[in-house]
Amino acid sequence: MNKERYIKKLEIIQNAGNYRILRDIEHNGFLIHVDGKEMLNLSSNDYLGLSTNPSLIEEFRSETDVMALGYSAASSRLLSGNHKYYKLLEDDLTELYDKESALVFNSGYHANIGILPVLASKSDLIIADKLVHASIIDGMRLSQAQMLRFKHLDYEHLRDLLVLHRDTYENVFIVTESVFSMDGDVADLQQLCEIKKEFDAFLYVDEAHAVGARGTNGLGCCEEQACVEDIDFIVGTFGKAYASLGAFVVCEDIFREYLINTQRSLIFTTALPPVNVAWTRFLLKRMPNFYDLRIKLAQVSSDLREVLTAKGFETRGNSHIVPMLCGSNESSVEMSDLLQDNGFFALPIRYPTVPKNEARIRFSLNASIAMEDYQCLFDFIECLEEE
Ligand SMILES: Cc1ncc(COP(=O)(O)O)c(C=O)c1O
Repeated sequence: MNKERYIKKLEIIQNAGNYRILRDIEHNGFLIHVDGKEMLNLSSNDYLGLSTNPSLIEEFRSETDVMALGYSAASSRLLSGNHKYYKLLEDDLTELYDKESALVFNSGYHANIGILPVLASKSDLIIADKLVHASIIDGMRLSQAQMLRFKHLDYEHLRDLLVLHRDTYENVFIVTESVFSMDGDVADLQQLCEIKKEFDAFLYVDEAHAVGARGTNGLGCCEEQACVEDIDFIVGTFGKAYASLGAFVVCEDIFREYLINTQRSLIFTTALPPVNVAWTRFLLKRMPNFYDLRIKLAQVSSDLREVLTAKGFETRGNSHIVPMLCGSNESSVEMSDLLQDNGFFALPIRYPTVPKNEARIRFSLNASIAMEDYQCLFDFIECLEEE
């Protein structure tokens, strides 16, 4: 046995300033306690602040026999784990998106590493935006299809690649996120729908950061950009604005059947706890009611971008994920420490997760945080000393 290489690798990670640790964290609504310090949590994906909403939790408890549901499915969905809430949730999703069918998974990671490898085979091409999430990249790597990447949000580049390569492959899958997790910018789904039609391709859209947070009813950017109908695979997660756990795809019946019969990350894993699926469904039904929270989220996001820009910081995107670019890894860590010392829990994202010299603070906003608290953050940024 040789442990030397693990030790060396950890040293390399440490020397690059990228050593990761798991911190002891306690939550109290949108406040977070880390190492005895109370801070505003600006690093969670609970975009609507539903996960600790007392009245929703109370309502759920009063209408659900949590003890009878149980905390474990104790089996895969393909064995005995497919409790009735799965069907109810999938029926609701199908109706909401007005698609043929829906399939629920344990997480967005399970969905993304599982769907593409079985849908795209040797004779196919997957062509993805350069900045898609690690789970999609892992899914592409697990597939036997050829892979190409187009420059981030550069649909002319996508077209050029399709002109060159479309005819070589049987099926082509264009893959994108809708709200990008590091830059907070948004894909032009209408344009992608046109391209997929023009080149007879499938369109796969990961709406992890958009479901719940975007669209009149919270269906995501596909609803906002009026193209639900044209997207072949809409993937959403329940672990972010949905304040739960799990993920889904809405698609045609044939693909649902195909995934049930082939997708390893669905077949070979224990199903979600029934109580969790019931909670997800409880929130899904109420999602259209949170329109005001979505509006507030959009407003504070645009306010924060204005404050950052006025102070001379580069920021990007147009969503509730607001990056504050700092340059080097070290500068982003220093900025995060400063924010934390002043009561704002906002973490640095460093190279190699983002390109070199584009390390940043990634503000992940939450509609349940009071405007006065956001004002404290804005005041703090306005008072930062110039470099
Ligand atoms: C774009 C995207 N897709 C998928 C996932 C994975 O989702 P989950 O946390 O449900 O595994 C993430 C997680 O951050 C994500 O950002």
